[in-house]
Amino acid sequence: MYVSDLALNDFRSYHELVLALEPGVTAFVGQNGQGKTNLVEAIAYLSTFSSHRVAADAALVRQGTGGAVVRAKVVHGERPTLVELEIVAGKANRARLNRAPTRTREVLGVVRTVLFAPEDLELVKGDPAHRRRFLDDLVVLLSPRLAGVRAEYDKVLRQRGALLKSAGAARRRGGRPDLSTLDVWDGQLAAAGAQIVAARTRLVRRLRPFVATAYEQVSAGQGAARIGYRASVDAAEGAEEITAAELDATPAAQEAAESREAALMDVPAVSRRLLAAMGEMREKEIDRGVSLVGPHRDDLVLSLGALPAKGYASHGESWSFALALRLASYEVLREDDTSPWGVDGEPVLILDDVFAELDARRRERLADMVAGAQQVLITAAVAEDVPQALTGARFHVHAGEVTRGD
Ligand SMILES: Nc1ncnc2c1ncn2[C@@H]1O[C@H](COP(=O)(O)OP(=O)(O)OP(=O)(O)O)[C@@H](O)[C@H]1O
Ligand SMILES: [Mg+2]
Repeated sequence: MYVSDLALNDFRSYHELVLALEPGVTAFVGQNGQGKTNLVEAIAYLSTFSSHRVAADAALVRQGTGGAVVRAKVVHGERPTLVELEIVAGKANRARLNRAPTRTREVLGVVRTVLFAPEDLELVKGDPAHRRRFLDDLVVLLSPRLAGVRAEYDKVLRQRGALLKSAGAARRRGGRPDLSTLDVWDGQLAAAGAQIVAARTRLVRRLRPFVATAYEQVSAGQGAARIGYRASVDAAEGAEEITAAELDATPAAQEAAESREAALMDVPAVSRRLLAAMGEMREKEIDRGVSLVGPHRDDLVLSLGALPAKGYASHGESWSFALALRLASYEVLREDDTSPWGVDGEPVLILDDVFAELDARRRERLADMVAGAQQVLITAAVAEDVPQALTGARFHVHAGEVTRGD
């Protein structure tokens, strides 16, 4: 798919912007702070309903105004679709599809994007929440139904947390809290949690070969990148972590990891296991006032050769790993044909400020890898940073004005 038209109202620094785009490579060039990232952020927002830069939507709405509108025409195969999202700070988004008001969830999955930005370094160096979000965003793009499951899980987790806290407080006062509602939350948490664990594990398996290949290509064959899913339910059951070094050294470790992973895709079984783990840990959970097992405590484990990436990988290696994760996402979406919008699942690839961080060789390699994508949107502060191989449309971005250049 590709975006053929974009219109912004009061989004970030833009009061009003109308822009026609084409398939192929488009570069947005301009000095710092001129609105390049704002532009691509708007397009990415249509696919994930969230920004790669801020957690709250308030910053997306132009200062001093009440709401922002992002409108785009996207083309799947030959078929155009009009998508519109209105962002009102502190309120739920309003959505339109082909001009008709609709529920926002109907819009999920219509626009597919994969965005790579400097912030993605956190995928490797940051805490697990970044990696969980990476997986969940992609899971939802692939099967929008899971957005509901994820929202349900978050809601139940909050309510269960509040109940655990008040039970703990009551107990410390010497009372005997009523724990019957906790059983209900346990069941709901386990049911939704198992679906998330299974979906993430399936995704990790789909991503794995692409991550390895992309890392090899970006880094010119230095080291093998591997990803794995670390489930808190395994740890709660006392299973010891299988390290990258063990995976490297013995086939037995690989088999053990494989069967553990396969078990995580069995939804009813994982649901039972989560429930049992919660039963085991109830006292501890009441003590601490938090839910200790479930997908909110899981992680995506990244390793390079026999070493974990986090804490060991160099700056450049971390960059390459983060980039490999995004390129692998792109490949998974491209080969996915389950979208109701037809077989054209290929996402728009967005590279925000990426080339400046790479040395000349890595730049050329990345350029070669993305040159064949249906639509690539690139931002750069310096025109020379965009590799020559990536010919296509150029826009200059200055003070919120976007003009076509060469
Ligand atoms: N909600 C908002 N309302 C008004 N202006 C905003 C809002 N959010 C961001 N801005 C402004 O947008 C500008 C940043 O734009 P953007 O991040 O797109 O820059 P850029 O062109 O990508 O720069 P760089 O090359 O440094 O990455 C800043 O000047 C910032 O003050
Ligand atoms: Mg920027």
